[in-house]
Amino acid sequence: MNAEERREAWRSLTVIEDWLRGGIRKERIEPDFESAAKAAAGRAAASAAFVEGPAGDSLEAVAAEVAACTLCRLAGTRKKAVPGQGVAAPLVMVIGEGPGAEEDAQGLPFVGPAGKLLDKMLAAVDLERDRNCFIANVVKCRPPGNRDPAPDEQAACLAYLRRQIALLRPRVLLCVGRVAAQSLLGTKEGINALRGRWLRYAGLPLLATFHPSALLRDESLKRPAWEDLKMLRSFLAETSGGAGAAGASGAESGKPPGDG
Ligand code: URA
Repeated sequence: MNAEERREAWRSLTVIEDWLRGGIRKERIEPDFESAAKAAAGRAAASAAFVEGPAGDSLEAVAAEVAACTLCRLAGTRKKAVPGQGVAAPLVMVIGEGPGAEEDAQGLPFVGPAGKLLDKMLAAVDLERDRNCFIANVVKCRPPGNRDPAPDEQAACLAYLRRQIALLRPRVLLCVGRVAAQSLLGTKEGINALRGRWLRYAGLPLLATFHPSALLRDESLKRPAWEDLKMLRSFLAETSGGAGAAGASGAESGKPPGDG
């Protein structure tokens, strides 16, 4: 349904509702059908395409281009670009929003306080950045003052992330935080709605959970984040070929949807 058809359907339903209310006209704010249609189109485009990078591409080529990139204003304020870190054939590709001060200084992702917590979260489900993960961000340069990366900055950097996904072909994409999940899925839905269920991006299972910085600010998020990690662990165990390979129980199971 396009935006106009949605608007027409909504208006017809309001007429019926008013008729059921005895003909009393209720004041309503009309939903933004254009934005809803654009978000739905973005989601469909993001999940439909199987990502392919240029022929002969490599992680090293992506990192070299990122280091020299001037596609957006973040190039003017960065100390070091942060292309990503991890193994070349990971089980899990972790995607954050963008480097902070310590990442900017070192050129490595998630090395500050949030990164230390991320490492612990991963270790709890037998994952490790130098053994079976690759860690990257939506934007590869630090947004000043740790603000959210602007939509045009995310758009400028997206091709690097897509090439990394194409090269790595991880078994699972783990988006940590609202920005990463929204950026990949092309949605404005909040992290509470997106987390805890299997989604798909570019033919790959995608799980979203809270950003470790959010867990540092709000302890109450640790329990739902742990539930998400258990879903991830179950899926990895179920898809490793060996029953219970990562110590998952049936109760934790959460299968990602099929491609169909
Ligand atoms: N937060 C992120 O989203 N990414 C990093 O690399 C560090 C902190």
